[in-house]
Amino acid sequence: MKATIRGVPVQWRESGAGRPVLFVHGFPFHGGMWQAQLDGLPPDRRWIAPDLRGFGGSGAGDGPYSLDDLAGDLYALLDELELERTTLCGLSMGGYICFAFWRTYPERVRALALCDTRAGADGAEARAARLESAERARREGSAFLVEEMIPRLLAPETRRERPEVVRALREIMESASGEAVARAQEAMAARPDSMPLLRDIRVPVLLLAGAEDIITPPAELEAMDAVLQDSRLAIVPGAGHVPPVEQPAEFNRTLLEFVEEIDRAEA
Ligand code: MLT
Repeated sequence: MKATIRGVPVQWRESGAGRPVLFVHGFPFHGGMWQAQLDGLPPDRRWIAPDLRGFGGSGAGDGPYSLDDLAGDLYALLDELELERTTLCGLSMGGYICFAFWRTYPERVRALALCDTRAGADGAEARAARLESAERARREGSAFLVEEMIPRLLAPETRRERPEVVRALREIMESASGEAVARAQEAMAARPDSMPLLRDIRVPVLLLAGAEDIITPPAELEAMDAVLQDSRLAIVPGAGHVPPVEQPAEFNRTLLEFVEEIDRAEA
């Protein structure tokens, strides 16, 4: 599906019809990382997976942006789809964007599923490394980043036994242009600390972590769980940084259980 939203062509994939769940992809992926959710989750809900600015089939817009701008894009997409409130499910960078969304548009959020992400901002060293990587991506494209990230992204078991998963993820990452990678890195480097925000989140939150994630280890989600008012934590065995791709059956089961629990609580 495609529409021009806020002057930028936006592409999204979707399946099902009913109460919506909006998936927000990580870096440097696109909405295709949620294909196993669109295919595997029941059709009595609407599962929507947009490509963020500059990624997949969405246009890049005209310059640098902040994560608040990306949250604004999602808000405008909800308007385009005539959706009042949605559950947001974000992975890693997608989680940072969920925090930005909550900060500005809490009334549009029914619940949050935060996967393999962190609430804290980058420290000075991480920020400097990001900006350096952004500069390099602008000079050389994204190939170096794919090589750097692949070994760290996936659990050893996924790398060893599921070459098709490694291939699919690699293809998604290789489709990101150097400029898209650079702008996203700059936006992430500038993101604020969302730890203080957690106390104000009044909707149910599912925290999901790959047991073997070394990029955002489960401890990051445990720290959020300790502060959030209404959260539950699920650790996905046999997954690294991208459980929806590495362990889709377990991921889908956990997410579905969560959205069904919210339905019951609201009934
Ligand atoms: C992601 O998967 O979105 C990235 O690991 C986020 C980051 O670079 O902080």
